[in-house]
Amino acid sequence: MADLRTTYLGLSVRNPILASSCGITATVNGVRRCAEAGAGAVVLKSLFEEQILAELGGADGSAGSAFPDEARAYLHELEHSHGPRSYLRFIEDAKKAVDVPVIASVNCVSGERWMDYAAQIEAAGADALELNIALMPLSPDETAGQIEEHLFSIVRGVRNHTKLPLTVKIGPYFTALPRVISATIEAGLEGVVLFNRFYQLDIDPVALKPIPGNRYSDSDELVLPLRWVSILYPKISCDFSVSTGVHTGIDAAKAIVAGARVVQIASALYTQKVSVISRILLELSDWLDANGYATVDDARGRFATSEHYRPEDLERVQYVKALTGTQ
Ligand SMILES: Cc1cc2nc3c(=O)[nH]c(=O)nc-3n(C[C@H](O)[C@H](O)[C@H](O)COP(=O)(O)O)c2cc1C
Repeated sequence: MADLRTTYLGLSVRNPILASSCGITATVNGVRRCAEAGAGAVVLKSLFEEQILAELGGADGSAGSAFPDEARAYLHELEHSHGPRSYLRFIEDAKKAVDVPVIASVNCVSGERWMDYAAQIEAAGADALELNIALMPLSPDETAGQIEEHLFSIVRGVRNHTKLPLTVKIGPYFTALPRVISATIEAGLEGVVLFNRFYQLDIDPVALKPIPGNRYSDSDELVLPLRWVSILYPKISCDFSVSTGVHTGIDAAKAIVAGARVVQIASALYTQKVSVISRILLELSDWLDANGYATVDDARGRFATSEHYRPEDLERVQYVKALTGTQ
């Protein structure tokens, strides 16, 4: 049976299947269930930067706050439900409850005062910190360079506040993704999570109101992170984690041969229950055995580094073939 043990962000993990940050990892019980189902590590539900700032004062109701009333009320509620103090207790309790690495998560958009909190996350015993940085370019006046510099400044700021292994979950919509990722790693990160799955916004065309789109992914969405991990793995030395579209052991195998060190699953925990982790592990292990890999580390990057995959030629040729072959 293939050896699934590996490392992620310098941490030893018993296998590369991680529970991704989501509602299920928002409670100690959920974290325990993921670990019992076999997860190699658990990424906790994110704390939002706004929750930290609200506790520090100034972001929830102070004069001149940019938040409209409804948003301020929501933040106030968040602060008193799962606020920064209770998040630190949550980290401590989750660490006591499981014997796999516990990765804290902060969803942030600015390099402001919340950063001292990274040191508190470290003191609470988290094994690593994942930053979910969702920068949405909305202004026609903002350049790609400005957005990228903003991302790097957040990363540098957090790096200066903690010695924890750090990774960042970003979206795919960058003009020059390889450069963005290599500069992010240079700014002091150990890994990158590909990708943030943005809130899917649909529209009710009659009521002219926004409505929620698909909350959960399916395996079809895996192709985007697969493409990018395959391109980036041979060029950038860091731990890639694939998030979005991993629902089966074969999905996980694809991500690993593309170059992922680990995969993270969220939607499948909801659509197939938390026990999906043990099924994915079994399928991955069977796949490694059937294809002659003694360890998961042996399989990593085999596609990305194979002679059959030269993205510079292949991507263009496949594109031309696909379009000229369509009637
Ligand atoms: C209900 C739900 C809640 C989520 N909450 C968070 C969160 O707090 N922080 C975060 O970084 N990602 C969050 N995510 C995103 C997931 O961690 C993951 O990146 C995304 O769903 C893509 O993975 P998947 O295809 O396995 O679902 C959430 C996803 C779901 C479905």
